[in-house]
Amino acid sequence: MKVSTPDPALVLLVGPSGAGKSTFAQAHFRPTEIVSSDAMRAMLADDPGDQDASPEAFQVLAILVNGRLRRRLTTVVDATNLRAANRKRFRQLAARYGLPVVAIAFDLPAELYLARNAQRADRVVDDAVVADQAERMARALADLPGEGYDALYVLHEPTLSQVGVERQRG
Ligand code: CTP
Ligand code: MG
Repeated sequence: MKVSTPDPALVLLVGPSGAGKSTFAQAHFRPTEIVSSDAMRAMLADDPGDQDASPEAFQVLAILVNGRLRRRLTTVVDATNLRAANRKRFRQLAARYGLPVVAIAFDLPAELYLARNAQRADRVVDDAVVADQAERMARALADLPGEGYDALYVLHEPTLSQVGVERQRG
């Protein structure tokens, strides 16, 4: 399967913790193209998991996204993006600069999010938090088709690792 994205575009990754969003982003996009809420929290609080730093982390993230889109640079938002209101704000940012928005959703079994989280070396997210995110993901999957993306991809296992990203220079 191929993910085809216009370039430049705003790319929203959507998925619970443990879905493999950061792994996917790092495999397919340049480091400077990826803006991640974890990286922002790490810069602000020395801890990517420090949820108290989230409000400021998302402010900084929005400044970066805005600045990059204004320069017409492809930008990948590596955050869970499970809230419709947050996704809407990012779509509005892209619209301000007339840029397309691509959503890439990671639709995996809830057990897999939990299992991967338990095994990770960097930052283990609480099971209850991940379970809640899995519920919100089900809602997001229902909402995404109606949100008006220029392209929407819903990725599943086991084919996820074979997915390639193709850019259409605009
Ligand atoms: N992982 C895996 N197989 C994949 C993708 C990820 O085993 N195909 C593992 C990673 O090595 C990592 C864990 O699953 O240990 C979580 O992957 P990550 O990409 O960090 O998930 P994110 O969706 O970015 O999670 P978060 O929202 O917490 O940043
Ligand atoms: Mg991540």
